[in-house]
Amino acid sequence: MTTPRLLAALLLVAVYSAMCMAIYLSQRRKRKLAASDAAALLPGAGDTTAWLIGYASQTGFAEQLAWQTARALHTGGVATRVLSLSEIDAETLAHTERALFITSTYGEGDPPDNASLFADELMRSVATLPSLHYGLLMLGDSSYTRFCGFGRALLAWLQASGARSLFEAVVVSNEDAAALHVWQHHVHRIAGTSDVPDWQAPAYRPWRLAARRHLNPHSAGAPTFHIELDAPVGETADWQAGDLVQILVPGDREHPREYSVASIPADGRIHLLIRQERHVDGTLGVASGWLTHHAPLDASVDLRLRAHGNFRIDGNAQRSLILIGNGTGLAGLRSHLKARALNAAGTVPHTWLIFGERNAAHDFYYREEIERWQEQGVLTRLDMVFSRDQNTRLYVQDRLRECAELVREWIAQDAAIYVCGSLDGMAAGVEKALTEILGEADVAELIKQGRYRRDVY
Ligand SMILES: Cc1cc2nc3c(=O)[nH]c(=O)nc-3n(C[C@H](O)[C@H](O)[C@H](O)COP(=O)(O)OP(=O)(O)OC[C@H]3O[C@@H](n4cnc5c(N)ncnc54)[C@H](O)[C@@H]3O)c2cc1C
Ligand SMILES: Cc1cc2nc3c(=O)[nH]c(=O)nc-3n(C[C@H](O)[C@H](O)[C@H](O)COP(=O)(O)O)c2cc1C
Repeated sequence: MTTPRLLAALLLVAVYSAMCMAIYLSQRRKRKLAASDAAALLPGAGDTTAWLIGYASQTGFAEQLAWQTARALHTGGVATRVLSLSEIDAETLAHTERALFITSTYGEGDPPDNASLFADELMRSVATLPSLHYGLLMLGDSSYTRFCGFGRALLAWLQASGARSLFEAVVVSNEDAAALHVWQHHVHRIAGTSDVPDWQAPAYRPWRLAARRHLNPHSAGAPTFHIELDAPVGETADWQAGDLVQILVPGDREHPREYSVASIPADGRIHLLIRQERHVDGTLGVASGWLTHHAPLDASVDLRLRAHGNFRIDGNAQRSLILIGNGTGLAGLRSHLKARALNAAGTVPHTWLIFGERNAAHDFYYREEIERWQEQGVLTRLDMVFSRDQNTRLYVQDRLRECAELVREWIAQDAAIYVCGSLDGMAAGVEKALTEILGEADVAELIKQGRYRRDVY
């Protein structure tokens, strides 16, 4: 290599290393800030007068409101403890005198994942909670038959258990601002502070549709697209692997659609993996049709990021990971793989990807990247399960069963499981397989420890 080219190469390496360092330091600073923020809201040890703020949240909105509620109470000098419902046991609840619950509802009237233990263990039978005073905020969407189904089940259980409500439960459909204001009013009354302007929901910002690529021509399944979006000029966006975006589309600005982010901030852009939905009348899905077909390149896309606590790495950064998904579920897994790759291959623990699609010839999304991660050791083990490449149909849950012994070994060595993709087709089957392999109690323990996380839809 000639001297100028060598110098240029060295300069490039130096710039790249400086960039990685800057990203690492900025992330470390943010983690420290978040930790000190949380610490400031925590009561002293043994403080039984602190308000318990319990949330049941799948995609992060209830969790975000729980922290906003805690901050508002903290401003008025009121001590709080913020916990997901699964972190609350019978003993804790029996000793709690004041609580605020914020719940969302999933599936068809079901509790979110981080409330499933509470629903299964505590709500199975009536409790004795005569000294508990509570307020309840139920989030849902009135277009579902079982509107606020889990919130209503929790309300019925609290009532049957003798707990006393502080005010009428607040019911919110689709993030309705007026109903949220009612909750905010109650919180400020408890805090003894006057009502302040509405808690700011993050605003939608105009992102730019920067790139779009059809990933699976000739596939037996619906067309799937890789999409890239640029932040508005002059703005920097911040998110973590596992987070979601919400997008408003011209045809239906009332109902945002959620998508799992497939990239990390170091990529400089938000990447999405979107499957084209098709209605029975042949028309394209409102949001997926617009993003993958109707919107021209450079179109402005109203987007906001949503922290997805349930699917972030949190305490699992130093653990081995078993990443399981199908279809567009690769999006959420890819962001975690990218984060692992960035944090120096080889020095992080093991990562195992088990991914399902139809045919290797058409549906092996991001093949080069995945094979490169395998070569670099970012991926310790890769199981691509193509359901239609053999006579019998095979799915990720079948592969899990075949590898039962290995799954048990990884879990015994403290691995965490991340599942992303379809709820009915895949996640339910994976849960069943995991329960057979590990046993119900161990799966419950994994949920409790934050070692079994899902982004499923
Ligand atoms: C947490 C989460 C993460 C997600 N991540 C992803 C992701 O990474 N990638 C991805 O592709 N998707 C993802 N989704 C799904 C995504 O949010 C959308 O639901 C999906 O793109 C379909 O939206 P749409 O507007 O295109 O379809 P819609 O137009 O809303 O249609 C959806 C369905 O509604 C019915 N329907 C609506 N209108 C009509 C009509 N006029 N006639 C007949 N039937 C109708 C049909 O059953 C149709 O199949 C995620 C969802 C959640 C909740
Ligand atoms: C796949 C899915 C299923 C849902 N099912 C219901 C439901 O059965 N009943 C309901 O009221 N809301 C339902 N919702 C709406 C959510 O409860 C609502 O969007 C809530 O604000 C989400 O809060 P979270 O981000 O804290 O999970 C559903 C949403 C999704 C994406």
